[in-house]
Amino acid sequence: MEARGLIAAGGEATRLGELTRVANKHLLPVARWPMIYYPLQLLQLAGIREVLIVTGQGHAGQLIDLLGDGRMPARGSEQPMFDLDLTYKVQTEPGGIAQVVGMAEGFAGGGKLVVCLGDNLFEFAEVAAIRDWVNGGEGAQIFIKEVPDPERFGVVVYGEDGRVSDVVEKAGVVDTRYESPPTSDAVVGLYCYDAGVYELIRELRPSSRGELEITDVNRAYAEQGCLDVHRLQGWWHDAGTHEALSELGALVEETGANKPA
Ligand code: DAU
Repeated sequence: MEARGLIAAGGEATRLGELTRVANKHLLPVARWPMIYYPLQLLQLAGIREVLIVTGQGHAGQLIDLLGDGRMPARGSEQPMFDLDLTYKVQTEPGGIAQVVGMAEGFAGGGKLVVCLGDNLFEFAEVAAIRDWVNGGEGAQIFIKEVPDPERFGVVVYGEDGRVSDVVEKAGVVDTRYESPPTSDAVVGLYCYDAGVYELIRELRPSSRGELEITDVNRAYAEQGCLDVHRLQGWWHDAGTHEALSELGALVEETGANKPA
């Protein structure tokens, strides 16, 4: 069975203030495209055709207006922009990324799921790592990148054997077991899961910020010894802040995004 894709495009995007009063964050421009084109392109490059987009109430219409059924030519051209098969679901409250993944259970139909956060952009599409995992991996695969500001992210902790022993969400704020991030290896918004993920999500309780945390899912896989970790090449950013949004456009113009390795 082919893997299916999921894009988390809900949330309230309050950090973007006036920009997201009406507009969905994932439709804001980054270089020449609406933000959500980048994760869609990444999934398409990885050979995934069937993609579920989960978005917040009040935003599904905008996304459907833009993307339709997923088969669309580039504007003013015969060349296909996307040749995807899109499905949409509404997350009525932003209950966390793990809640979004849980919403994909029926859609994934017992197969593997590749999840992209709708505001994460990558220099390289990591096609080989995704394909290798889809073709032979078990459990889960996450992707990491060393960052200067690990307090903003989930980070991995390594055991003596070098394997990931723990995953910590925004140390000192969401996960108070640590006052500050124990490492600088951030978990980025690209995850591969087998069909065991839904059982793990059913066991979750909301975190201190009231969300079902994807980091708790990844920790559960690490504790079971079935979490693969792949270090990214190139840059990676989430476009969730004004600073990131204004810098990312120029970066994408300069280097390109979703490049083959
Ligand atoms: O960007 C990578 C980071 O993303 C990871 O390092 C963290 O472990 C992970 O928790 C997440 O952190 P954030 O707190 O920055 O996630 P944020 O709330 O910004 O949401 C990320 C995307 O997921 C965003 O495009 C909106 C979408 N989302 C978020 C929530 C909370 C949903 O679709 N539904 C939700 O309920």
